[in-house]
Formats: sequence, C-alpha cells, structure tokens
Amino acid sequence: MSAYVKKHSFQEFSVKADDRADPARAQAARASASLTEALIASRPLPEREVLKSVRADLAAGENGRFKITAFIAAEMEKLRDADLPPYLFHRYRYDVWPAERKLDDYPPYLQLEPVSYCNYRCTFCFQTDRKYFKKNAENMGVMDPGLFREVLEEAAGKVEFFSIASRGEPLLHPEFGKLMAAVKPGRFLGLKINTNAAVLDDEKSRAILESGVSTLVYSADAATPALYAKLRVGGQLSRVQKNIERFQEIRAKEYPGSKIITRVSGVRVSSEQSIESMRSYWGSLADQVTFVAYNPWENIYEAAENGIAEPCSDLWRRMFVWWNGLVNPCDSDYKSMLAVGKWSAGGNSLSDLWKSERYQALRAAHLARRAGQAPCNRCSVV
Ligand SMILES: C[S@@+](CC[C@H](N)C(=O)[O-])C[C@H]1O[C@@H](n2cnc3c(N)ncnc32)[C@H](O)[C@@H]1O
Repeated sequence: MSAYVKKHSFQEFSVKADDRADPARAQAARASASLTEALIASRPLPEREVLKSVRADLAAGENGRFKITAFIAAEMEKLRDADLPPYLFHRYRYDVWPAERKLDDYPPYLQLEPVSYCNYRCTFCFQTDRKYFKKNAENMGVMDPGLFREVLEEAAGKVEFFSIASRGEPLLHPEFGKLMAAVKPGRFLGLKINTNAAVLDDEKSRAILESGVSTLVYSADAATPALYAKLRVGGQLSRVQKNIERFQEIRAKEYPGSKIITRVSGVRVSSEQSIESMRSYWGSLADQVTFVAYNPWENIYEAAENGIAEPCSDLWRRMFVWWNGLVNPCDSDYKSMLAVGKWSAGGNSLSDLWKSERYQALRAAHLARRAGQAPCNRCSVV
C-alpha cells in the first residue's frame, strides 16, 4: 500500500483564471523583501530563528524546505503586510516542523468539531460506519458554545490555523450563529470551515461572513447530479448549488469587502471525476477548485496491517478537539482509540494535552517504525 502524504494532500489545485503572472512567485518575492534583518530583529524571540529559515529557504528556491505554493500564495494575498511575519512563522511550523519532528507548546493546527454526526453518508467517508455514527448514540453530540469559546480563548495568539470541522457536518450545529460570533474577525490568521453546504442558509451565510472565517470549503466531489448522488449519499447537487449561489449573492451585495476564500473540494475516488469538469461546473461559484487524495479511512479498523514504517507527520502538526472536549491526535481514528485526554477549563489545557505523556508515547512508537501501534499500523498517513 502506498503512503498518504498528509502535507501534500492536494492532488490538484486551481484558482479562478486571472492574468497575473505566477502569484506564488510574486508572494515569495514579497516575503523575501519583507524579511529584512531589522524586521526579524523586531519580532518576538520564538519567531526570529524561524523567519531566518524562511528567508534562507526562499533564497534556496527549489532546494529550500519551505516553499510558497499556489495555495499558500492565495492565503498570503489576503494578508496585510503586518501579518506576514506571524503568518510565515506559523506556516513554517505547519509545513516544515513535522518533518523535523519538532514541537513547541501548541500544535500548528487545531481542528474543532462542532458536531460529530453528519447528514450525508459519502461512500468514501468513515460516516458510512452506521454502527458508530448514529445521531442519538452516546458518543455523538454537539459542542457546547461555551466550550467552543473557551478553547478559542486559550488558543488565541498561540495557534493561528484552525478548521471548524472534523468528523461531522458543522452547519448542523443548532447554535451555529453563537459559535461564529465567538470567532471574531482578525483573531486568527487562517480559519477554515468544511461543509457539504446542504443546510447553508441566509442566516448561516451571514454568520460566516461576519466572523473571522478565512476559507470556506464546500465538499462537493462531482459536477453532475448523478455522480454527486452516487458519491455524496444523502445529498442533492441542485440544492447545494442553490445554497452556494445564494451565499455568493449575499457576499457580493452585503459584504463586498469580505476577504473570504471559497473552495470547492473533491476527494479523488472515481474515474468519472475530472478537474476540468469540476472547474467548468463550480468555477463561477467558488474562488478555488481542488481535489485531495483519497485516504482509505472508512475501514481503518478492519484494514490489513500495511507495513508502513514512516511516522505519521500529523502527530507533530494537528490536534483535534471533539464535540465533548475529548482530544484526539487524528481523525482517521474516528473512534478515539488514541485519545490523549479531555480538555477542561482549569484542568488539561491544549498545551498540556499536546505535550502529554500519552501523546509523546504515541510519537515515540511512530518513531520506532510505528511499533505495532493500532490503528496506525493499518493507516497509510505519513
Ligand atoms: C469528514 S468531512 C466533515 C465536514 C463536512 N461534513 C464536509 O462534508 O466537508 C471533512 C472533509 O473530509 C473529506 N473526506 C471525507 N472522506 C475522505 C477520505 N476518505 N479521504 C480524504 N478526504 C475525505 C470530505 O470531503 C471533507 O472535505
């Protein structure tokens, strides 16, 4: 079995056609020009060495460990000059540190799960495990807005990249507006929501546009109603398209200054999919159209051991806080076999959990050729 390289899960990435020459090169030049000796010396201590490495890597071009990709350039284009140094610091922590097995007090990326269940049963997703994902089961639920707010409070200024999504469909949260109100514009450098957009309505659209969400990802794997219904079981393409059109209308009329990036994302699972058809169908409805590689996570507990010995880089990159505060190192392990503890105000902090003995033991097992660690020995993510 081949490894699933998490850092490069985008197989295809396409932005709306424009006539600017190479935005990635332009943003790399902008970053290099901004990282002067004086600027670096003026930054807080933890950033300085990293910013020097960013500068050296950009100067090394193709040989550098850190590169400005089209995806990173699209994020940088939305940032003010003043936000570039912290952005590059946190991007570097996300992109390069996991490969160097380097940690500090907080994960480079945090995923908060507002809801654990979903209204879809996409054929390639772990939500097809009907025994586990039953809306009324004890292990399913929605995050208390107070918990959501408190976790954000702790993370503010420490973690800059978030997804407000993990196992379930975030827009099913009954108090979605309250969650979004806690986010606040300008508080984080990269805040993403993944949604199937089936219940995206005017109120939720405004809540997203008024909050600090920087990227809204519509998970839609197809460009025809038939393929959509086949892959995104429980969904209807026409309904989702209508909701996204309405979001666009609200964004254009009521929030013309919004810097939000919208992205249609597909998981590559069928020969009937193509980036060309996705671009022609979704191109006018979203700023970006992408395909990510398929990660066979829907049968992770039953799959055969695969012999992959390379450590999973996500153990140094991401941490997940699920609806009930349970903290898991990974979402392929959707049953939380690897849980490191529960977040609680005045108890386990995000930082305590990220550096906990259990997390460190898991990292050590991975460094020792994944050493029989279940379910990681059946998972291909590296
Ligand atoms: C599990 S979903 C949850 C959020 C939301 N319900 C949605 O549809 O976006 C999060 C993301 O994982 C992607 N995904 C689902 N199954 C996958 C798989 N087997 N491999 C890679 N990505 C997958 C989805 O397409 C979606 O973009």
